Amino acid sequence: MGKHIKIFDTTLRDGEQTPGVNLNIKEKVLIAKQLELLNVDVIEAGFPVSSDNDFKAVKEIAETLENTTVVALARTVKGDIDSAYAALKNAKKPRLHIFIATSEVHMKYKLNMTKEEVLERTISMTRYAKTLFDEIEFSAEDASRSDPDFLCDIFEKVIEAGATVINIPDTVGYSIPTDYRDFIKYIVDNTKGIEKVDVSVHCHNDLGMAVANSLLGVMGGATQVECAINGLGERAGNAALEEIVMAIETRKSFLDVYTNINTEQIYRTSNLVSSLSSVYIQPNKAIVGANAFLHESGIHQDGILKEKSTYEIITPESVGIKNTSHIVLGKSSGRHAFDSYLKDMNIELTKEELNSTFEKFKELTDRKKDITSKDIEAIVNAKKCFNETFKLKSFQINSGNNIICTAAVQILKGDEILTEVASGEGSIDAAFRAIERTLKMDIKLKDYSIRSVTDGKDALGEVTVKIQGNNDIFVGRDISEDVMEASINAYINAINKMVEEEQ
Ligand code: KIV
Ligand code: ZN
Repeated sequence: MGKHIKIFDTTLRDGEQTPGVNLNIKEKVLIAKQLELLNVDVIEAGFPVSSDNDFKAVKEIAETLENTTVVALARTVKGDIDSAYAALKNAKKPRLHIFIATSEVHMKYKLNMTKEEVLERTISMTRYAKTLFDEIEFSAEDASRSDPDFLCDIFEKVIEAGATVINIPDTVGYSIPTDYRDFIKYIVDNTKGIEKVDVSVHCHNDLGMAVANSLLGVMGGATQVECAINGLGERAGNAALEEIVMAIETRKSFLDVYTNINTEQIYRTSNLVSSLSSVYIQPNKAIVGANAFLHESGIHQDGILKEKSTYEIITPESVGIKNTSHIVLGKSSGRHAFDSYLKDMNIELTKEELNSTFEKFKELTDRKKDITSKDIEAIVNAKKCFNETFKLKSFQINSGNNIICTAAVQILKGDEILTEVASGEGSIDAAFRAIERTLKMDIKLKDYSIRSVTDGKDALGEVTVKIQGNNDIFVGRDISEDVMEASINAYINAINKMVEEEQ
């Protein structure tokens, strides 16, 4: 069976640092619950001192999860550690994650500190943290560009001070896999006391080698891998959890390691994160891309028909992609068929969620003939994770190639009906202007995108809108067979999220 490798998921912390991604608290809790179903060992929920919302999200996740270790990030600063403690104090399994940079370039230009100062600060803050936490992870930021002997020294001393996990990140994705393996091995072989703690790797994807580096890190002696769903993360992202897990699963006898991940929840988790973060997955992405299990060439198709293992090293079912294409739901489908379809797709919902999703499904069957798994995923993911301060009541668009486009909207604010008309350069522009007039707001639109969720003329269109708030970007989404309706709702949803967070 080999050695157990712990999976540390950082989708909600490093993953949320992806440019343009801003998850609200409810969305983070939803993802955290799904990560618990996926059975990750550790969830890094956020950086509590960085914002009020991060603090609240970590606290709520800490109070919600039952079995998973919940981690909060902190610099080696007392205020950060206190804030992490306040956020984590009700967690069943809390862990503090403290970090400080150890490379010459970071110490000199970013921290303006000497090696001795970094060492002293780290030891004193680890000792302080140990008065509050049993589990402490220490990360030497930019470790892969740091002096290995300095790392051995600092790791030995933080272990003495109470650290229980040592993380050796490739912060800027600079490593080459075999060098990284040797680097990890050197540290494991030369740090006194390291056998008492977990050794972790955390690789960024700047040169496209984050997954390879993580696996070689494991071969060098790491016992924990830090990664994010769909490879989300700062710049080019973190190592993709689904790729690491399935590489270990597929080659476990070669690597002589295993993880405890429930691989059948991979597709559902990836889909949920993609939808809530609005970072879409490239079709040829390993494991979860739309093409990952499709065979185009005749020779390949022939091979697959004769014996699947000719061209398939992992089965779609093993990552939770069930072949549901033969089941199509429609107007006559009842509650039972719907529930069992969700079960087949590994979608777990509470009773309330099931009821409201079924209602939406029924509404859709009135307008669309055949409902497929993609439609149902879209309905489930369209769950509103924010207060609906404003709600669309009705809209009317007047558009054509030889006329000025105009839009009239009616928006509900509680029981009050607000209404306005505006003209614009095209129907979307007119509609968005009408909404702004109605709400007396001046909104900065940062991005608008539309894609079809399913095939066919009656496909559901998904619209994503990004607007600029005071400090953050707010993302609104909606799906409908009518793309104007989806666009208007997506805009109002983004405004609702902004109002909720900024009021
Ligand atoms: O990339 C990095 O070094 C980090 C640390 C905070 C672990 O994200
Ligand atoms: Zn990172």
